[in-house]
Amino acid sequence: MSSNKIASKFKSFQPKTTSLSANFLSNLWKSVAISGLVLYIFYIFLSNHPYCQSSAFFVNLRSSYKWIFPPTTDSPTNISHLVFGIAGSSNTWRNKRFYIDAWWQPNKTRGYLFLDRYPKEFLPWPSSSPPYRVSEDTSRYNAYNKHGMPHAIRMVRVILETFREENKDVRWYVMGDDDTVLFVNNLVEVLARYDHRKYFYIGMNSECITSNFAHSYAMAFGGAGYALSYPLAVALAKNLDVCIKRYPTLFGSDHIMQSCIADIGVSLTQEKGFHQVWIMLSPLPKYSSL
Ligand SMILES: *[C@@H]1O[C@H](CO)[C@@H](O)[C@H](O)[C@H]1NC(C)=O
Ligand SMILES: *[C@@H]1O[C@H](CO)[C@@H](O)[C@H](O)[C@H]1NC(C)=O
Repeated sequence: MSSNKIASKFKSFQPKTTSLSANFLSNLWKSVAISGLVLYIFYIFLSNHPYCQSSAFFVNLRSSYKWIFPPTTDSPTNISHLVFGIAGSSNTWRNKRFYIDAWWQPNKTRGYLFLDRYPKEFLPWPSSSPPYRVSEDTSRYNAYNKHGMPHAIRMVRVILETFREENKDVRWYVMGDDDTVLFVNNLVEVLARYDHRKYFYIGMNSECITSNFAHSYAMAFGGAGYALSYPLAVALAKNLDVCIKRYPTLFGSDHIMQSCIADIGVSLTQEKGFHQVWIMLSPLPKYSSL
């Protein structure tokens, strides 16, 4: 066979292979593009991500075909998914309790008031107030306590002690002081917008500029209250005592808490509904809040 003949045979063969592989490739791309588009449309119409809810029509469609679309998120957040951890003191509870009783809903709101000592003068404890617990002794941290605020370490540990008491079906831990006034229904509505399965630290600056300057612009103020998602509370609780020892000189509990959360890699999500207002005129509450 002459080399010419071979070349001509090869030539007649070659275009066929190119067209075959070109066909195959274009078909492949078409099917990738089409299936991508179909998946995208499914995602758009059926998404139930908290930030990207599909319309009620498609949500209903999804819930009536549960066997095709297994639910990917939980039920809407309600009051029983929140647990409150309130830092208080037996010496001031006589006056402060009115702020808490104003929003506490017995047998509906979950949580505890943490006191510095046994509240013998208030017994029997009324069911209209949150159940109390006496904070664990923190004297073992004395070497690490150069904090300007008394009770700073005890107050940071309220999240840990609240977590140990209540950790079933919890989505949010809401931390506050004994003069924090909350509007619980509004709070539930706001927290329901966030994905409680992710790390969230939700709160707000102080409305008093000097407070932000003196402490931190990046932290939530406990006087207004702030919320931690369940997984963040788990991560904090795991290593809280180690973290407390890492920051022996910060002024108070809110700043220690923010530093511990920052070490986990989470920064503050600001919600302007939390108001820490410093009102000098006693006996008005120092703070009002969401
Ligand atoms: C809150 O939702 C849960 C389901 O996640 C439900 O079992 C519970 O009864 C609801 N509680 C209230 C007070 O609506
Ligand atoms: C809360 O529930 C307990 C029983 O579980 C009941 O004894 C108590 O009276 C209730 N408190 C209020 C204020 O409804």
